[in-house]
Amino acid sequence: MSAAPQRNARAKETEAKSAAFAQAKRLAPHLAVRIGSTPATTFRGNPDIFGRLVEDHDHHRALIAMVEETTGDSEDRRMLFAELTREMQSHAAAEEQALWSSVLRKPETTDDGRHAVAEHYQIDKLIEELEEIDMASSAWLRRFDALKEKYLHHLREEEQEQFVAAEKHLNDADLRHMKSVFERRKTEEKAAQ
Ligand SMILES: [Fe+2]
Ligand SMILES: [Fe+2]
Repeated sequence: MSAAPQRNARAKETEAKSAAFAQAKRLAPHLAVRIGSTPATTFRGNPDIFGRLVEDHDHHRALIAMVEETTGDSEDRRMLFAELTREMQSHAAAEEQALWSSVLRKPETTDDGRHAVAEHYQIDKLIEELEEIDMASSAWLRRFDALKEKYLHHLREEEQEQFVAAEKHLNDADLRHMKSVFERRKTEEKAAQ
């Protein structure tokens, strides 16, 4: 890639990431969003289903960082954690319906789909555990840290491994269909939470 397209690709990535972070920040503008670097992905800022999924991932990375800025059983922590869980769960459900169900059907990518869906289940269990613990306790912080670690690992693996494998076996019509299913299902799943 020559210098100009490389610059454009970087600008597109930076713009997509800033937009996703700003979306989270609107919920609590007084809190910092300290994310540090994000793992590299070729999908960020793309107009297709994978770019759309990474947009959600970046939004969730920002929400996690904002929860970490809160203290005790506070209004901010309650509101941000509730939004984060609604986001994670509706994203996972819509992602399964739009993407992983098709990926599982193709023998070449069954293992990738299975891996991603199994992690969704583990993440759900961690959320359930957290909902049972006093938010002001150190046990809650330890469990939140475990959720963060698991979830960030999941996002990185999707972006760097499973999306890459899945993309090789999907055509343009598949990708368009998946994006529209994801948009519709994400909205419906989030409204139902
Ligand atoms: Fe995802
Ligand atoms: Fe996922």
